[in-house]
Order: sequence, then structure tokens, then C-alpha cells
Amino acid sequence: MWASELIRRKRDGAGLCPEEIEHLIRGYVEGDVGDEQMAAFCMAVFFQGMSDEETSSLVKAMLSSGDTVDLCGIEGVKVDKHSTGGVGDKISICLAPLVAACGVPVPMMSGRALGHTGGTLDKLSAIPGFRTEQDITTYQRLVETHGLALIGQTPELAPADRRLYALRDVTATVESVPLIAASIMSKKLAEGIDALVLDVKVGSGAFMKTLSEAQALAEVLSAIGWGANKPTRVILTDMDRVLGRMVGNANETWEAIEVLQGGGPDDVRELTLILGAEMLILGQRVGSEAEGRTLLMEAIDSGKGFEKFQEVVAAQGGDPRAVEQRSGLPSAPHQEEIGAEQEGTITAIDAEKVGWAAMRLGAGRGRASDSIDLGVGIEMMVDIGDCVKRGEVVARLSHRDGYGTVEARKLLQQALIITNEGFIAQRPLVLDRIEEGKQ
Ligand code: URA
Repeated sequence: MWASELIRRKRDGAGLCPEEIEHLIRGYVEGDVGDEQMAAFCMAVFFQGMSDEETSSLVKAMLSSGDTVDLCGIEGVKVDKHSTGGVGDKISICLAPLVAACGVPVPMMSGRALGHTGGTLDKLSAIPGFRTEQDITTYQRLVETHGLALIGQTPELAPADRRLYALRDVTATVESVPLIAASIMSKKLAEGIDALVLDVKVGSGAFMKTLSEAQALAEVLSAIGWGANKPTRVILTDMDRVLGRMVGNANETWEAIEVLQGGGPDDVRELTLILGAEMLILGQRVGSEAEGRTLLMEAIDSGKGFEKFQEVVAAQGGDPRAVEQRSGLPSAPHQEEIGAEQEGTITAIDAEKVGWAAMRLGAGRGRASDSIDLGVGIEMMVDIGDCVKRGEVVARLSHRDGYGTVEARKLLQQALIITNEGFIAQRPLVLDRIEEGKQ
């Protein structure tokens, strides 16, 4: 079998059989298929799509490119949550310790920034000393001892995804249902979970811009999860605006910590409660969403969620005192305010542009090998429906010596759509749900 022949067939719209997909993925991991060939294959999939059978073969091939962790010896139903990626999405950082504090073990493996979206792993690396790179034995020990692990994908787990994730990021091949589904599910099925909650983002700041695209992705994710015998709940949530106020790394980590400390923006807290309740239901800790929310609120009010976070920070080499105050995390030395270009109502926010603006400041990567600036970022001062006067501060940039500010300013001005319309209703946070999959 020649890789170039398989790429050509996919390019021309033909379906590939499981052995052909396996051949490509194994070849890529073993070095027989080059980055340039895999990039071409991803672009062919981007344009031609994949049937459900092909997507399922891709998941299997990526999963079997590495090991699978066994967490069966650890008591409890282990539940993880994964988001398809958004702007300002720091939910995992407050969600995981809260759910663990409520008694459901959370083995969480997160990713780095992808495209214009931020990555939980980058945000967590803002905590001084905190090590997200852990081996499988340590990962198992963390889940067993603390009921919580916040780590990055290890080299042994779905290595095909590790490489493809970085390749897709720099070849404009992220926004594809089969590629996203295979990326997420191959690593989730490898990490030893019993059940999974997925947050599929919809809107300008998401990879899926429309509800129908997101529903298609959600159906595929749900079917793969249930097909692998992992109860899976998919919640489709609004990403037509920034989640919370902060976009960046350290500033987003801090915003998540604020939720653990009983504060934080309403939408960040609300989504944490929604997703957390689902995790507690799947973890067989509660029987209803209302019960789940009550338990989570108790974990916030009693400080147990924050204590659990500090516990795991210490266990993974971080300084638990550093997460007590904003000053314990990195920050940028300079600030710049962005004023509204005209008077009116904020009728829309192009969250993708806000994500690119943060990237220009250095919060994300242009190439896989780039390092990021953990301290820089954006604070959004307005939301959809707000009325502003000309010149009123709509966003604040935290930057390092002006790096990227010209482009970031321009992107932010373009991102905020200000018109003369009066009242603008915000979309609800939850747009759809899929609770049971095709088995
Ligand atoms: N998250 C992932 O892990 N992979 C994707 O492709 C998109 C979001």
C-alpha cells in the first residue's frame, strides 16, 4: 500500500477501509509516512469528510498507536470532561477539583492551545513549579491518592493524536468533524475513564460555527463513546462570545481559581455547575442535576474544591500558596486600554478574533515549536447587549513591551460589532444536549 495512493483516493472522495487507515496511521507514527503526507491526508479529509465507519477506524487506529491505561483497580466511576475548544474556556481548571472534592475521581488529560483556542495545559503551566508532564504510573497514583490528576497526554497514550494535533494546528486542518472526533476520543479512550462529559462549543469562537455542524460532531462523539461502552453525555454550549472576561493563560487560570474561591464570572461558574452536575450523575454520586448542583455549591462554599485544587497542585510539584493570590501567577508588565470606536450596543463579538488577538500578544503558538508568554492576555470589559459610549474602555491588553499590540488592537476592534440596535438578547449557555448515544 502506498500512502500517496491512499491520499489521492481520499482527495477524490473515495472511502478507505480499516486496514488502509491503520496503514496510514501506523506508518505516520513509525516514520514511514511523512508530515507532508499526513498534512495532505488531513486536508483531503477536511474537504471530503469521512463516513462513520471510516471515523471509527480512525479512532481505533489512533487509539492502538499507543497504550491504554488501566484504572480499574481504583475505586469509583472515573469521569473526565473534554471541551472541543473555545476562547476563554478555563472551565476544566475549576471543574475537575470540584467534582473530585464531591467524591468522583477525575483523571483529566488536557491539551495545549489549538488554533485560536487556548489549551488547559498551557493555562496550568502558569502555576509555578506545576508539572503537567507525568508518566503513567504517577498518573495512576495521583488518581488513586487524590481522586484527581491534571496532566498532559503522555507519549505512550495515543501518540498518533499527539503528532496529528500539532500538525493540524499549523496546517489549517483542525475544523473537521472526523479529525476532531478521532483526536478527542482516541486519547479519552486511552486514559482509562469509565464515563465522559463532552462540551461541544458552538459559535464564532468555536471550531464548529453553526449549531448543525456542532450537532453533527456531537452525534459522532456520542456514538463513539457509547460504542466503546463509556456512558457519554454531550452538552452543546454557546461560544458566540468570550467565556468569562479573561483570555490568556495565567489570567484565565486565576479566573478559574476565583470560581473555586466563591467568586468568578457568572457564566464560568454556571457552566462549571452544568458540566459538573453531569459528571456527578455519570459518576453515580447523584441522581439528578439539582442534587449535583447542590453538592458542587457546597464544595465551593466550604472551600473543599479549592483545597482539592491546592492538594493536586502540591502533588504535581506546584506551589499551593502561589494559587492563593493573583500575584502568585505570572503577569505582563504593561497594560493598554482599547476604547469603543463608536457609540451603540455590542450586538456581536467575534470570539475567534479575540482568540487570535491574544495569540498575537504571545499567549498562543504560531508554530508547534514556539514558546508562549504566560503573563500576557486580554480582559474583556463588555459583553453582548452592553451599551457603550465612543471611547469607553471595551478591553484591556496585558502585554510585554508592546509585542503584538498593534495587531491585537486591530483584531479586537474588528471583533466587537457595535450598532444602533437597542436590546440584544444573549443566546442561552446551553444550546442542546445528547444524553444517550446509538449503541
Ligand atoms: N480538542 C482535541 O483534543 N482535539 C481536537 O481536534 C479539537 C479539540
